[in-house]
Amino acid sequence: MDKAVLSIRNLSKSFGAIEASKDISLDVRAGEIHALIGPNGAGKSTLIQQIAGGLRPDAGQIVFQGEPVTHLTTVQRARLGLGRSFQVSAVVPDYTVLENIMLALHGRNRTAFRLFSNAFRDTALLAEARRHAERAELGDRLSIPAAALAHGERRLLELAMALSLKPKIFLLDEPMAGLGNDGTQRVTTLLAQLKTEAPILLVEHDMDAVFALADRISVLVYGRVIATGTRDEIRANADVRRAYLGDDEDAL
Ligand SMILES: Nc1ncnc2c1ncn2[C@@H]1O[C@H](COP(=O)(O)OP(=O)(O)OP(=O)(O)O)[C@@H](O)[C@H]1O
Ligand SMILES: [Mg+2]
Repeated sequence: MDKAVLSIRNLSKSFGAIEASKDISLDVRAGEIHALIGPNGAGKSTLIQQIAGGLRPDAGQIVFQGEPVTHLTTVQRARLGLGRSFQVSAVVPDYTVLENIMLALHGRNRTAFRLFSNAFRDTALLAEARRHAERAELGDRLSIPAAALAHGERRLLELAMALSLKPKIFLLDEPMAGLGNDGTQRVTTLLAQLKTEAPILLVEHDMDAVFALADRISVLVYGRVIATGTRDEIRANADVRRAYLGDDEDAL
């Protein structure tokens, strides 16, 4: 149960004088949502990018499903099921919800793009795309162009596309950002389901969502992990309260 799908070992990364990652070690276990929280500029996105392969660490190792992947490119990691990150999702505004998910499925299957004129007629793929849309509560929006979706629905579409890629881990950088209450609630519900398919490393500022979802939480401050633990452990941690919450004792 406690098997690590992803292990970060002693990762460090500097931008000039800024130490964005300082000797970071953490793991993401099968079946868990591991939230990564911390103030603005703490280094959360920098860590996600190093895991996905967009940024090269100065030191340390990334081990995915028991294999070191630190030397692999983004594309090679994606093929292993690592690093289908939220921020690289490519929704085509003029395509409908269903077409966008089909597009993601073709990307997964690496179907040649020149066959695309026939691509929307593949019935097996269509059925699969429909299933992913329905899971994201977009079943009644299938023929709506992505550009016409509400912000929260678009986020759900991006998640449906990420889900359709069948990653072995989800790396999500602020999936609730810019969503209202309703959108946040829908994404929260979906993430709770997603973790049964693959564990999630979740960067999120919305503390209600984090504390509703996370099995474990790591707190990053100035590039350093100052604590990792369960929700209760993090809530009770004096260092976390001091460093991350400042004087706001009620924030957690
Ligand atoms: N490409 C870059 N070049 C120089 N400095 C960078 C670069 N990317 C990030 N930084 C710096 O590294 C530090 C960590 O940034 P990062 O974006 O990882 O923080 P974050 O925790 O994701 O913040 P936020 O919560 O605001 O998204 C910051 O000081 C930032 O200015
Ligand atoms: Mg960030």
